[in-house]
Amino acid sequence: MNIPFVTHSPNDTLTLGEKIGQHLEIGDIVFLFGDLGAGKTTLTQGIARGLGVAREEYVRSPTFTLVNEYRGKVPVFHIDLYRIASSRELENLGLEDTFAGEGISIVEWAEKLFAEEDASTPLLGIERWIEIHIKIEEGESRKFNIKPHNIGSSNHPVFALH
Ligand SMILES: Nc1ncnc2c1ncn2[C@@H]1O[C@H](COP(=O)(O)OP(=O)(O)OP(=O)(O)O)[C@@H](O)[C@H]1O
Ligand SMILES: [Mg+2]
Repeated sequence: MNIPFVTHSPNDTLTLGEKIGQHLEIGDIVFLFGDLGAGKTTLTQGIARGLGVAREEYVRSPTFTLVNEYRGKVPVFHIDLYRIASSRELENLGLEDTFAGEGISIVEWAEKLFAEEDASTPLLGIERWIEIHIKIEEGESRKFNIKPHNIGSSNHPVFALH
């Protein structure tokens, strides 16, 4: 299962994020993959908006805190693992509670959740997640691929994204 999208401007990406946010459920964990400047934070801003976080709330990368929490119709956790150097460091953050809680989590640099390049199971006991891969294309174009993992063929709203 792979749901593709293309955007042509940052604003377009915000709109896509908003649409994705409207198709998430409590407990969802979204993994974002993409190079520096791909648009992970921009997409997260849109997702937060789609989850009812006020437009005035300034969603930006939680560089120093690692986790920012926003109040939408459910709690929205924005996690940026860019600075995490080891799986031990990751395991000391207490993120398990965040992931297992009654909110929706969005993770930038989600590759840090995989102990090895080819590991197929993330750390911290995460069993179901939604991957979004972002590729930088010509100019301001970005390609997005949304892949639900172990979400099954349930009636999760993400499958209605087209
Ligand atoms: N279609 C697009 N979607 C999103 N951002 C775009 C697009 N076109 C150009 N940009 C620019 O790309 C940059 C994306 O920045 P953003 O902080 O969202 O990326 P990021 O993936 O979070 O980067 P980092 O790895 O540093 O956290 C911004 O400067 C934005 O203006
Ligand atoms: Mg970012």
